[in-house]
Amino acid sequence: MKVLVIGSGGREHALVWKLRQSPSVKQVLCLPGNGGISREAQCVAGDLKKMDRLAEHIASIAPDLTVVGPEAPLASGLSDTLASKGLLVAGPSQAAARLEGSKIFSKQFMRRHDIPTADFVVCEDRETALAAAQRWGGPVVLKADGLAAGKGVVVCSNASESEQAIDALLSGRLVGDAGRRLVIEEALTGEEVSFQVLTDGNTVLPLAPTQDHKAVWDDDRGPNTGGMGVYCDDAILSNALSQRIMKEIVHPTLDGLRKEGITYRGVLYCGLMITKDGPKVLEYNARFGDPETQPLMFRLRTDLAETLLGLARGNLSSRPLEWVPGASVCVVACSAGYPGSYESGKIISGIEQAEAAGAKIFHAGTTSNNHDFLTAGGRVLGITARGETLAAATRNAYHAVSCIHFDGMHYRHDIAQKGLRRSQPL
Ligand code: AMP
Ligand code: GLY
Repeated sequence: MKVLVIGSGGREHALVWKLRQSPSVKQVLCLPGNGGISREAQCVAGDLKKMDRLAEHIASIAPDLTVVGPEAPLASGLSDTLASKGLLVAGPSQAAARLEGSKIFSKQFMRRHDIPTADFVVCEDRETALAAAQRWGGPVVLKADGLAAGKGVVVCSNASESEQAIDALLSGRLVGDAGRRLVIEEALTGEEVSFQVLTDGNTVLPLAPTQDHKAVWDDDRGPNTGGMGVYCDDAILSNALSQRIMKEIVHPTLDGLRKEGITYRGVLYCGLMITKDGPKVLEYNARFGDPETQPLMFRLRTDLAETLLGLARGNLSSRPLEWVPGASVCVVACSAGYPGSYESGKIISGIEQAEAAGAKIFHAGTTSNNHDFLTAGGRVLGITARGETLAAATRNAYHAVSCIHFDGMHYRHDIAQKGLRRSQPL
């Protein structure tokens, strides 16, 4: 089959890499792809913002399966348009993608269906927002309603921080129009887990659990980013807690959507806080996590193309996904200045040496010329390795990191440390 992946980041590189291993896949294309992806798939130029032209362009490629990576085309209804042209798509409809596209919709949805989440207030003006920020007498979290590439959430520990953030969001300064309506919620404490499932609307297959590291500096300090690194290890969650998440969160979410007339077909990503009162939803994403997908694809044994084709057709196999035993770790190498402004065009060295030792370097923001890969984004590479234990996977990943260089490269040194410190699953 001919498979088209939509997107240009590390997640898409990992999907391309894994799809190419399926015996039934003859050709993988990626629109628009990046420097690293162009060495493994045919990259097709295209603008993800121009929806009409994009759908026509995809129809002219006539893929047997389209896998949509990022949230914006899903929120704009790409899956619906492709389906109306008779194409098979792994990615939810526009109505289903509102779980990610509007924080207000997703919080009100959770309230309607009794899905555990932080208490919250919706705010459209400064006065309501300032009052809401005082409501729980402790830290609060401000969330822009619309899509903001991971930058629309601000955790505030006191009144002056929340006042500043409220003004920055409501004025449009922080994330433009996405922030003119807000959710303000109670801050939760606990450990975060990314729990993702594949579903065709009926069958639900959990992916292995992962833990992301959102803050830019070690020990979870500094502003939030798109994700600085992830590890994947079955030992993150006990069986009992995984089952509880399925029962209290995943199934009620899919059932709630169904009751509202929406069939969810794609990856449902639940960003969870495991609190002392149990798992609570911090956010939904309507797509594969990034960088979660990089260590997940590096451990997945099951044929991804056949699995996603079944999902798109509405007959996802109920056979549980199989994973290489052990763990995998992805450390994200970023440009100087990220998550603020950064320069591009720095030459990247050491990728071959890093891969010679068994790691896989997924490209997030690169271009390539005839000789070199050059940086072309804030998050540049997802340096990914496996091991029989989490400790071995972590050592292997940081060994690979030590091979790689570009001007100004920075990364977190403590990816997976939470898992290594934990003596028992959550
Ligand atoms: P979100 O995009 O909603 O997942 O938020 C991004 C990050 O902000 C999360 O991964 C958490 O680290 C943090 N966060 C979001 N909501 C809360 C909350 N209610 N309590 C504590 N931290 C939160
Ligand atoms: N890693 C978090 C996300 O994909 O939104």
